[in-house]
Amino acid sequence: MGQDANLIRIDGLSEATLRALMTRAEAFIKGAPAANIPKDACVSTLFFEPSTRTKLSFQRAAQRLGVDMLSFDVANSSTRKGETALDTFRNIEAMGVDVFVVRHHEDGAVDALVAHANKGTRFVNAGDGRSNHPTQALLDMMTLQQNKGQDFTQLRVAIVGDVKHSRVARSDYQALALLGVQDIRVCGPTQLLPAADDMPRAQLMDRLDDALDGVDVVMTLRLQRERMEEGLVDSLENYHANFGISEARLARAAADAIVMHPGPMNRGVEIEDAVADGPQSRILQQVRNGVYARAAVLERALRGTCD
Ligand code: CP
Repeated sequence: MGQDANLIRIDGLSEATLRALMTRAEAFIKGAPAANIPKDACVSTLFFEPSTRTKLSFQRAAQRLGVDMLSFDVANSSTRKGETALDTFRNIEAMGVDVFVVRHHEDGAVDALVAHANKGTRFVNAGDGRSNHPTQALLDMMTLQQNKGQDFTQLRVAIVGDVKHSRVARSDYQALALLGVQDIRVCGPTQLLPAADDMPRAQLMDRLDDALDGVDVVMTLRLQRERMEEGLVDSLENYHANFGISEARLARAAADAIVMHPGPMNRGVEIEDAVADGPQSRILQQVRNGVYARAAVLERALRGTCD
């Protein structure tokens, strides 16, 4: 019991486990009840970074499973008095929490907590640094499957934006590769592209029109505004002109291409309103899937096994 039921990263998962989580999430959409969750089970969020979608959808998922959930509010917590993340975790763990859902700005922060946890305490990574956002990848793969079917091998997928600094892009890439996607195009300004060995199966591209040519799926990423302060992007206007998804740009993709975005969106920067709210957008479908994807992940963690 314990480690096997954690979800820290997509890397290292088997395709069978990823597909089993997707199947379970789909069953929850159809109204399946939770199974074999211990009585009095308790989940706690432990978010040291802001979140709207991830945190609330985990809360909704816990309600759906009928388990208690504590919600840690960093802004009003004793971290303001200097308490460390590790001490914060240990104190909440001592209250009898079974599963922690953790978000932290540092890469590897969740692994560090795992190393200090009691036997039997389980973890779900809700985003660490630039590294991993596995439940976002799970809900994104569900959204792809709902729109494009179970066979991922023929899909052409473009991931567009600040890929280098994106934990969503990293986890999505790993999930796409695991599910057999052959044509993964990663596009952005050269300075925001990942190292080639970070995403070895992807084609790295710096021309959006080439990246969108004939694709079935456009995964757009939020441009983090601190990239301007770091001098990595000269202006939002230029970024939009070169890498923003507009209706005209989207016309280069397949006629039935879908557009995804993990949120929060910078409307008018990486995506235009007409696309974000248009017929090819699946952005709110992603959000809806998040509740069920996270219910599947929490159920697995609470049961303490990966079967
Ligand atoms: N997609 C995502 O992680 O959104 P939040 O930061 O609002 O949780």
